[in-house]
Formats: sequence, C-alpha cells, structure tokens
Amino acid sequence: MDAKTLESDALTAIAAADTTDAIETVRVEFLGRKSALKQALREVRDRETGMTLNAVRERLEAAVDARDDELARAELDRRLTTEKVDVTLPAGGGGRGHLHPITQIRREVEDIFLGLGYRVVDGREVETTRYNFDALNFPAGHPARSPQQSLFIDDKTVLRTETSPSQIRTMEAQQPPIYVVSLGRCYRRDTPDATHTPIFHQVEGLVVDEGVTLADLEGTLDFLLKKLFGEERRTEFRTHDFPFTEPSIEAYVSCHVCDGDGCPVCRHSGWIEIGGAGMVDPKLFEFVGYDPERYSGFAFGWGLERIAVLRHKIPDLRELWRNDLRLLRQF
Ligand code: PHE
Repeated sequence: MDAKTLESDALTAIAAADTTDAIETVRVEFLGRKSALKQALREVRDRETGMTLNAVRERLEAAVDARDDELARAELDRRLTTEKVDVTLPAGGGGRGHLHPITQIRREVEDIFLGLGYRVVDGREVETTRYNFDALNFPAGHPARSPQQSLFIDDKTVLRTETSPSQIRTMEAQQPPIYVVSLGRCYRRDTPDATHTPIFHQVEGLVVDEGVTLADLEGTLDFLLKKLFGEERRTEFRTHDFPFTEPSIEAYVSCHVCDGDGCPVCRHSGWIEIGGAGMVDPKLFEFVGYDPERYSGFAFGWGLERIAVLRHKIPDLRELWRNDLRLLRQF
C-alpha cells in the first residue's frame, strides 16, 4: 500500500465531506477497523514503516476531527437561524387536564356535606396506636393490631388503617354539636387484587349532638347514596359489627346497573354493599370526656375507590392507581 496516495485520497474525501454524517462515513472508510490503513498497521513488521503509517494515521485523525467540528458548527448555525422560536408567542393549545376520578369523588362528597352544613376536617395519615386502636375500642389481640394486617412505623406508630381516628381527634378538639367529614388516605397490608390496594381513600363522617338517632344516620346515608348513585336508588341497612359503633350497620344501595333485577355487578342480588356505619359507642365519649347521657352520635366510613369503581363500572380497582391516561381520560 502506498501511504502517500492513501493520505492524499483521504484528505480529498475529508475536504469533500459536506455533512457530519458524510464525515463519519469517511472516518470509517479510512480510519475504521477494516480500513486499508488499519489493516496495514496490523501487518507492520519493521519500525520505520510503523512510524510512517502511524504518522499518517495521526494526521488523518486530526483532519477528520477538524472537519467534523467545522461541519457540526455550520449545522448548528443553520438550525439556529432556520428553527428560530419566538418565545413571546402565546403557547399552542396544550389541552387541559382534569382531576383524577378519586379526587373528583372526594370533592363531590365534600360538596354534598358542605351543603348539609358539615365542616371538612383533616386527619393524620401517620397515627399513634392510641388513636388508631385504643381510643376506638379495638380489643387487645384484635387482628388489625397485628403487623400482619397493618403497617407499623414502630410499636406505637401506625399508618392509619381507616379514617376513624379523626373522630377522636375532632371530639378532643371541640365540644358538640359536631357535624364533620374527614377524607383521606388509609393504609393496610393488603396484597393488591381487583378489590384491594394497600393504599386507599375513605370518607369518615361524624355527628354528635343531643338526641341523634339511628334514623338520622340512615336518613343521612340514604341522602348521600342517592346523590352518588341516582335519586331512583333504594337503600337498605343490615346489622354489622365494629369496635367503635353500637349498633353497627352496613349500608346497601340498589344496583345502579340493573336497578335491582340482578346482574354481575351486584352479583345477582340486586344490592351493592357500600360500607360501614353505626351509632358512636358511648365508650368513645368517655374517652374524650363527653357526657354519654347527654349526647349521642353516628359515624360512617366508606371507601372512595369502591364508590369510583362502582360508578364508573371499572372492573379492577388497581386501574385507579396505574395512571394510564387511556383510562383516566374517560372520566
Ligand atoms: N372504619 C370502618 C372501616 O374501615 C368503617 C366505619 C367507620 C364503621 C365509622 C363505622 C363507623 O371499615
């Protein structure tokens, strides 16, 4: 191979390259692993030829780099003049977003209760076992007190397993009459499936006043269920059991999909279970220093995800946490 001819051929090609892509092709052709020059360098047997070829290689590398720089700068200049952006122009229609379905339901429930004269109060997501269990009359050894079911931070601190501790905090902070709702995240050590996620939202309601009865509770829940699922719905209340209410009930609404005729959503029963409620157990009043002879109250705690999947007929509750825009854009 004639080093002189090779070098002048390469220099001609370098000068002729007019884009950074073209110079890359030249680099591969003359300096790449399979180029004649690299081939020759691998076969060198004497020192003098080696030095000559290496000197050619170095000069060609420098020439390629220099041309590459020059072309890159020219390309940048060209882009800067042709792709000029006027940042003072109004931004093009980016499309408005909207609230997540859970936030929509949360606000809707808040609005319903604000309309009834309730206040919205905040609770704490990180709670003490005192507020999350003791004050709510959970007996020692109740399964919810176990790290198998609840997420503990330490012996005395737990991620709230329900919004009910807000009942105690509200009663401690004020005297009756109390008409409040409290909405937010709760945590349980559940394996995610179609009906469970370890993080979920609840709405807690609490009323304490003189002469509050079970009929007041059922009337309030009937009103809420009709607002959420339609005025034509019927409601039903069945007995249940919670440590902090006595008596305890579970609210049911007639199926909004089949109107009670029976379908897969209501598992062919015509009724859909919504969530728990009951009359505040007088033991809670003792805990916060209210006179149980004078006051009575009711409470309820429902899952917002459950309301959302029922209303929107979403088959799997986990969908609400995937943040897939194809789902979220529908609501
Ligand atoms: N905290 C209960 C639950 O998570 C619901 C509930 C709240 C029941 C208030 C009665 C009164 O299941």
